[in-house]
Amino acid sequence: MDFTIDLSNTGITADELKEQKEDTASIMEALWSGKMDLSGWVKLPLYFDQRKMRAILETAEEIKKKCDTLVVIGIGGSYLGAKAVIDAIGGAGQLKHDGIEVLFAGTNLSPAYHLELMQKLEGKDICLCVVSKSGTTAETEAVYHIFKKIMTEKYDTSFRDRIYFITGTGEGGLREEAKTEGYKLFTMPDDIGGRYSVLSEAGLLPMAVAGVNIKDLHRGAEIMATDMGWDDVLQDYGINRYLLKEKGKAVETFLTYEPSMHGFTEWLRQLFAESEGKAGQGILPMALDMTGDLHSMGQFLQDGAPVFFETVIDIEENPFDIMVPGGKYDGVGLAALNRAAAKGALDAHKEAGVPLVHISVPVMNEYVLGQLIYYFETSCVITARLMGVDPFDQPGVERYKSEMKKFV
Ligand code: PA5
Repeated sequence: MDFTIDLSNTGITADELKEQKEDTASIMEALWSGKMDLSGWVKLPLYFDQRKMRAILETAEEIKKKCDTLVVIGIGGSYLGAKAVIDAIGGAGQLKHDGIEVLFAGTNLSPAYHLELMQKLEGKDICLCVVSKSGTTAETEAVYHIFKKIMTEKYDTSFRDRIYFITGTGEGGLREEAKTEGYKLFTMPDDIGGRYSVLSEAGLLPMAVAGVNIKDLHRGAEIMATDMGWDDVLQDYGINRYLLKEKGKAVETFLTYEPSMHGFTEWLRQLFAESEGKAGQGILPMALDMTGDLHSMGQFLQDGAPVFFETVIDIEENPFDIMVPGGKYDGVGLAALNRAAAKGALDAHKEAGVPLVHISVPVMNEYVLGQLIYYFETSCVITARLMGVDPFDQPGVERYKSEMKKFV
């Protein structure tokens, strides 16, 4: 494991943790038994079909040769994972230079957003990648048809060679469209749900197109899956979260100091909110972008109602720096100032009695990111199961989807 996690400032005692260990051990056993519905992601990095990996990489190469921009159409778990990884690795400057631009559509129903995107795409050579496990999501379907029209106008009958679909096995809907049109189609595993699908073809194809080293990402997840620490200390973040919630900490604020990590905290928000927020349970996840948010939300973090705890994801080493060329900070690098702000905020919040989880990532790359993804997914299941809820369903989301149909 290439990152460290400091739980010494959460206020949870060793005895309190110990009391939960028996329950957590059974959760881990159930998770690994393969008997939990939609838990296929647990062993995915260990047994990922290498023919599938090759097919994804070959298709990514094909897309890169055909176009300069890939538009991914999908929402929720069908895009957040890919975006999280592409942004985080891009921000760390590790993206392979042969990757192409990946943009996202269908992440909302705003005409303004999509018109702006279309303007951005003028003069670009584009391919589409439509991602939907159910194949019936309104946002994805509507926006796909808008883009299909653009593609037919731009590329005439050859538009079909530029459209790629990734769907679940459920027949009908978008899967049927892919088959009817003869698009290249990837199938998502039945036993993996949207928000846990980041390391499946749903996330991997867009990432590979952007230049992410998806094999390293998988290797990172694999090393995390096989870490012996899961029998003991690695469970502790999940347990701490549960105990903090029991003590009235209803909100978890994820803090990062690199804007490139914003997508990752968006993915975390979805993972935790959809997995835990049911039956009156859950910790409300918030994401803050520092240092900007220190100048707005920072006040609340320091002195506000004590309803939250903080999980700081700190990247220690930055591949880039800019020296300040004058004034009070003459000769100091922005990276050092950023670190100073992170350390200062941590100490100030510690003094204010805010329960703190501190995750320290020496350097961001695919291998570490794969570890973090797997770590958060497993920790989320631990907390959700301790809360007594099913981490893999999303009845609330399904309800909105069906209610929406009444109005169109
Ligand atoms: O995690 C989930 O299951 C959801 O957020 C889905 O990913 C989201 O609703 C999109 O669904 P679909 O992939 O079926 O279009």
